[in-house]
Amino acid sequence: MSKNICVIGTGYVGLIAAIGLAEFGNQVTGVDLDQSKIDLLNKGRSPIYEPGIETYLNRNFQSGRLKFSTNVVEGILNADIVFIAVGTPETENGEPDLTALNSVVEEISRNLNSYKVIVVKSTVPIGTNRTIHNLLRMQHSETLFDVVSNPEFLREGSSIQDFFHPDRMIVGCRTEKAKSLMFEVFRPLNVMSVPFVWCDWETAELIKYSANAFLALKVTYINQIANICEAIGADVHDVARALGMDGRISPKFFHPGPGFGGSCFPKDTKALVQIAKDINEPISLIETVIKANSVQKTRCISRLIQTGVSFENSTVAVLGIAFKQQTDDLRESPAVEIIEKLQSLGATVQLHDPQAMEGYKKVNKVASFFETSLEACEGADVVIIATEWNEYRNLPLEKLKNIMNGDILYDTRNVLEPELARSFGFKYFSSGRGLF
Ligand code: UGA
Repeated sequence: MSKNICVIGTGYVGLIAAIGLAEFGNQVTGVDLDQSKIDLLNKGRSPIYEPGIETYLNRNFQSGRLKFSTNVVEGILNADIVFIAVGTPETENGEPDLTALNSVVEEISRNLNSYKVIVVKSTVPIGTNRTIHNLLRMQHSETLFDVVSNPEFLREGSSIQDFFHPDRMIVGCRTEKAKSLMFEVFRPLNVMSVPFVWCDWETAELIKYSANAFLALKVTYINQIANICEAIGADVHDVARALGMDGRISPKFFHPGPGFGGSCFPKDTKALVQIAKDINEPISLIETVIKANSVQKTRCISRLIQTGVSFENSTVAVLGIAFKQQTDDLRESPAVEIIEKLQSLGATVQLHDPQAMEGYKKVNKVASFFETSLEACEGADVVIIATEWNEYRNLPLEKLKNIMNGDILYDTRNVLEPELARSFGFKYFSSGRGLF
């Protein structure tokens, strides 16, 4: 049976959840304090770049199952289930900032007019679901609400696909009533045989951090193997393929590059380190991952300097600004660190990105921005491919070589074929595919 759902927060997680839950047949109101975001959404336009999102948005508008509003009180009062999907950004000491989450919980407490399930989708420190339960319990009878931890595993750039086809659903809850409601809401996933892991709050919270930290570890591992490949002349892709053939290892998340970025891995690895420190069980493995990743981000520059390149008064084209392809997200992007390091070394930086330029223009007033990748590379001494956008796989290499001033092409994402690039006369560098 269709439920009335309120999703609070329309960032990546909240927006996709609102759209997905409406697609499952529920009546959904997505709520956010940001009026301009809500206005945009109500016109059927997405505030974020995410492939396919506007098709789903408009389809569910037309069916009358989805709407967006700034009225959080009305959203809560009308809901059987309230999903909390507000941001938990990182504070200076690496801990998540729970200000937005706490004020949502207070708002829910003030408007708990009937039994509601409060589902926490935001990534939150261990113990947060229990604290929310205890806070609500101070004001209300236990029969009036249930708190459920339901961490999200979607990836930016493929979030819609991930929402409808998750590897598993993690549901931390304490009562049969909440369990059966969650089961009902997510019944379409059960029909598709998506496994459900029912557990307690703390387990659900830890699963989210340890999944992200493990994936970050896996990426860092292959990056460091790639670094060894560069020194000994081996090919990291063959190494990764062979390792992945071992079912215990799996071939996924084994693509080398300029380190992990985005809004999740950097924040969640730091949070896990902090959680572990707080209970006096330091997770030194992840502390090392964080350090290694920070060096990896600008490794392309250190490597070029080692081979005698000087960036002072040079012109460098950086292709890609977003932290990965299919997104306009710049948070913790390795490309951004590369650009800023180049500028600090005295280089003039010319940029291209198919989606992220508008956002970055507001931040970097010194770099120049170009509509096409080739225009960005004109007159460059060095070209660095920093994001794996598909269009960079088809760069016209002959033309590129002719319009450049120099001949260094650094492909941090391995989107080009080394032999082909070298055949056009480039000094081609990659991540772990043989001696430069
Ligand atoms: C990540 C997780 O993959 C999601 O499951 C999780 O829900 C999300 O964080 C979150 O916690 O919200 P996301 O940050 O969107 O998703 O991006 P990923 O595709 O996981 O990539 C993260 C970083 O690792 C990127 O910088 C990417 O370029 C890098 N990466 C990933 C590699 O360098 N190599 C790989 O093989 C995979």
